[in-house]
Amino acid sequence: MLYPNLDVSEMFVDRQSQRSSMHARHLNEQLVRVLKTIGYDVGFQKGQGQYLFDRDGARYLDLLSGFGVFAIGRNHPALRQALKSVLDSDLPNLVQLDVSTLAGVLAERLLEFVPYLDKVFFANSGAECVEAAIKFARGATGRPGIVYCAHGYHGLTYGALSLTDDPNFRGGFEPLLPGCTSIPFNDAGRRSALPQVRHLDGGRRNPDRNGSNRAVPRGRALECRA
Ligand SMILES: Cc1ncc(COP(=O)(O)O)c(C=O)c1O
Repeated sequence: MLYPNLDVSEMFVDRQSQRSSMHARHLNEQLVRVLKTIGYDVGFQKGQGQYLFDRDGARYLDLLSGFGVFAIGRNHPALRQALKSVLDSDLPNLVQLDVSTLAGVLAERLLEFVPYLDKVFFANSGAECVEAAIKFARGATGRPGIVYCAHGYHGLTYGALSLTDDPNFRGGFEPLLPGCTSIPFNDAGRRSALPQVRHLDGGRRNPDRNGSNRAVPRGRALECRA
């Protein structure tokens, strides 16, 4: 079917009933199978703030929140207005031999929240940020070794996967980046287990819990000598 005017909302309505078969055929049949098995093949019609709506108008509170991507909810009016103003402005986007005014404004505003930093590096995903961090670390130290914490998840690109400690993700893709070593979380004091780690924070071993059930590292715990 052709969409000469590219009405995306019309396309969504037209093709919505085929979403599972399209995904199974062209993307990820396992995900389609899992969603059906656990009863999550709802076919949401609308997203507003923290809510999703099915075709009968029933409202669902989305506690998953896109793993944090929707920190201000879906289709927030202020964000929608900002996007519309960009699209309506014929801005000179992605001119390769120029610097972007809006990227400069965003960097300036972000740095107001982290006054101890003076530069921003923009990336498109979590894994891309981890890739950049690996390169910054190597560039700054000249050392190839990287230490990561057991049970950590850092993404699925090659470098990030090398620091992700789950065999379900790693299986079938090893060997990964050399010189990467997993250590127990907040247990950098185990020098005998990992001689290449220089311990910097005085041997504290128990994870902080920071009010939530999420463990947080104590300060800058590690430096790698590998
Ligand atoms: C801590 C952490 N790092 C990296 C990633 C990878 O992010 P992305 O899926 O955007 O590549 C995630 C994703 O859940 C994450 O939670």
